[in-house]
Amino acid sequence: MFNLIKEKKQSDDNLLDSLDKNNIPLHIAIIMDGNGRWAKKRNLPRTMGHKAGVETIREIVKVCSNIGVKYLTLYAFSTENWKRPADEVNALMNLLVEYLRREVQELDKNNVVINWIGDIAKLPAICQEELLRAKEKTKDNTGLVLNLALNYGSRDEIIRAIKKIAIDVRDGKLKTEDINEELINGYLDTAGMPDPDLMIRPSGELRISNFLLWQIAYSELWFSNIFWPDFNKNELLKAILEYQKRDRRFGGVK
Ligand code: IPE
Ligand code: IPE
Ligand code: MG
Repeated sequence: MFNLIKEKKQSDDNLLDSLDKNNIPLHIAIIMDGNGRWAKKRNLPRTMGHKAGVETIREIVKVCSNIGVKYLTLYAFSTENWKRPADEVNALMNLLVEYLRREVQELDKNNVVINWIGDIAKLPAICQEELLRAKEKTKDNTGLVLNLALNYGSRDEIIRAIKKIAIDVRDGKLKTEDINEELINGYLDTAGMPDPDLMIRPSGELRISNFLLWQIAYSELWFSNIFWPDFNKNELLKAILEYQKRDRRFGGVK
């Protein structure tokens, strides 16, 4: 048993050693998927899968923070996830509150800034309170920005941005001619953040599910079959190593 742990540790360290420290993605976005199937495979209720998924978040945040990722955006609850049974939605909201209450102190100690994207006004009041508290407590930190996507849907985000732009044009604060890529970036929930360099989706699904559609125009995509609760440091390092081999051309030629 001990040997197994040691071997695993060694292989992690090897992956870590192979990383090009000068080419760490500035922004990683992850679609945390597969909690339900992970639980089903073990004859557990889906909510146990979500609980196990929170442990993965702890590990991944720590690794990203340590290797110098600047932004980590985690898809935690989509605008479409309200379609799920009320029990599951409630369990997810409770887990969010629990996570924030339990982790904020440690995250703060590790210099992490807590932030979110998505329309949190529709979340239960207690979630909003904990989020605001966490954001306030960590606002002066200078390390990893942990961006939780909550009641987030890319189309919803774009619609909200268009409405704000329309109002500013109507009120004379903005001219139609001023609308360009940069301006739109500033009206999105991700205002001020760079686009994701790398988007990761575990669980075997090969789709984007309404996540950051505008922002991933030139992101590198990485998929794996592992369910989110089984995702770990090793998997993340594998994704980053693969990313480092990609030739990002942005439409140009080398
Ligand atoms: C992802 O896991 C978590 C959320 C969407 C909140 P799922 O709950 O979607 O797990 P699967 O896809 O059913 O396995
Ligand atoms: C995407 O996963 C949303 C989150 C991970 C929060 P889903 O499980 O909701 O996506 P679909 O339904 O498989 O596309
Ligand atoms: Mg899913």
